[in-house]
Amino acid sequence: MTDILVRGGTVIEATGRRRADVLCVEGRVAAVEEGLEPPAGALVIEAGGCFVLPGGVDPHTHMQLPMMDTVVADDFFSGTAAAAAGGTTTILDFAGPDRGEPPLDALGRWQSWASRSTIDYGLHMTVSWWGPRFAAEMEPLVRERGVTSFKFFTAYKGRLQLSDEDLIAGFLRCKDLGALPQVHAENGDIIAYLQRKLVAEGITEPRGHALSRPPSCEAEATFRCITIAEAVGVPLYVVHVSAAEAALAIARARRRGQKVVGETLPNFLAIDASVYESPDFDFAAGHVMSPPYRSPEHQAALWQALAEGGLSTTGTDHCSFTQDQKRAGRGDFRRIPNGCGGVEDRLNALWNLGVNSGRITPERLVALTSTNAAKAFNLWPKKGSLEVGADADLAVLDPERARRLSAKSQHQRTDFSVWEGLLLKGAVVHTLARGRHVFADGDLRAEPGAGQFLKRGPFGPVYEGVLD
Ligand code: URP
Ligand code: ZN
Ligand code: ZN
Repeated sequence: MTDILVRGGTVIEATGRRRADVLCVEGRVAAVEEGLEPPAGALVIEAGGCFVLPGGVDPHTHMQLPMMDTVVADDFFSGTAAAAAGGTTTILDFAGPDRGEPPLDALGRWQSWASRSTIDYGLHMTVSWWGPRFAAEMEPLVRERGVTSFKFFTAYKGRLQLSDEDLIAGFLRCKDLGALPQVHAENGDIIAYLQRKLVAEGITEPRGHALSRPPSCEAEATFRCITIAEAVGVPLYVVHVSAAEAALAIARARRRGQKVVGETLPNFLAIDASVYESPDFDFAAGHVMSPPYRSPEHQAALWQALAEGGLSTTGTDHCSFTQDQKRAGRGDFRRIPNGCGGVEDRLNALWNLGVNSGRITPERLVALTSTNAAKAFNLWPKKGSLEVGADADLAVLDPERARRLSAKSQHQRTDFSVWEGLLLKGAVVHTLARGRHVFADGDLRAEPGAGQFLKRGPFGPVYEGVLD
């Protein structure tokens, strides 16, 4: 493997910044110092005027996911290649057993798909059903197979939704094993009732999706899961927070000293629920995801929580569909496949919306895009840091580079972008993934299978390091 020297940039970590060159040897960071000389034969990337960040860790993606009678548009190769083009060098995706399927079988299926990834990847396990066999197989998943986080659902009634009793049992099992429970928190019973009511009233277009999933449903379920985690005595990771009241519940729990980690998505910080009012079905349906986009006052609360520490990570929930796939829900919003893309855009969008506007510092951006997720999922400091010895995963971001985001120019395999038309000032121009120069000033050199599976270890009894 060719040595690489990234020369002349400003290295940003979650804890501070400094002018330094970064030398990468055999896929690891070998030195971070000013004035380094390139070893013989090394490739030199000139990063003068640029920022050098730890490669992004996206803790929430869905590549190749079978869902609602279709399969998402990006497979593990196209999705991870797109990620690399946007400076993300690690994804954590979700293996999802069918109802009653042993989770170890599902893991085998996901690992065979995910082996085509071009960047490193780990897997969470979706708790898509609950019973003694599921509980039993959690032990080898955690102790032998490197899957140490489990996502529970309080929504999607009749499919994935679990009762409080099952959540308690599942959270307890996580605690026994030193695994981290995650939750998709929305009240599925209320949503099912509202969906029926809206359709009966003749509201079948995409706006019905948002109307059936009000912020109160997310707030209630978030608070309930925090309460269950507190009673059980286990930390909790709340995925894709979009409602102000949910963010507030997490921030309050954290202030009380409870280990609760909240994740939001760049989309929720900038796009509001007016998208569902569009008369253009493709545009409105393109934004259908759960939870939905909210009104602008929620965005202000999410930004505040990100800046102050109430929310700790950003993912993308990358779950991309083409416009044609979304058309399955013409005439009934309940049939629109839920999900939006974005794995390629997270760093660039957050830099532009957060750093350029002064809402967050570059150091906080690093915490929010890599370091905190790496800590929450037991990958730090191998991932989410540029310490000597860390994996040589990094992104070079040129703050002067202008680019316009569009479905036409993206690498994500879909004809829709929630960021259509966003003009960037500041963009990732180079990406190294474990020492491979995968994105070089617009040239994407992704190889299927170059990524490695990240086998994660369980946490100790007090979950030290999950997140301060
Ligand atoms: O709408 C969404 N978020 N789709 C992906 C699955 C999930 O709920 O995270
Ligand atoms: Zn979800
Ligand atoms: Zn998701």
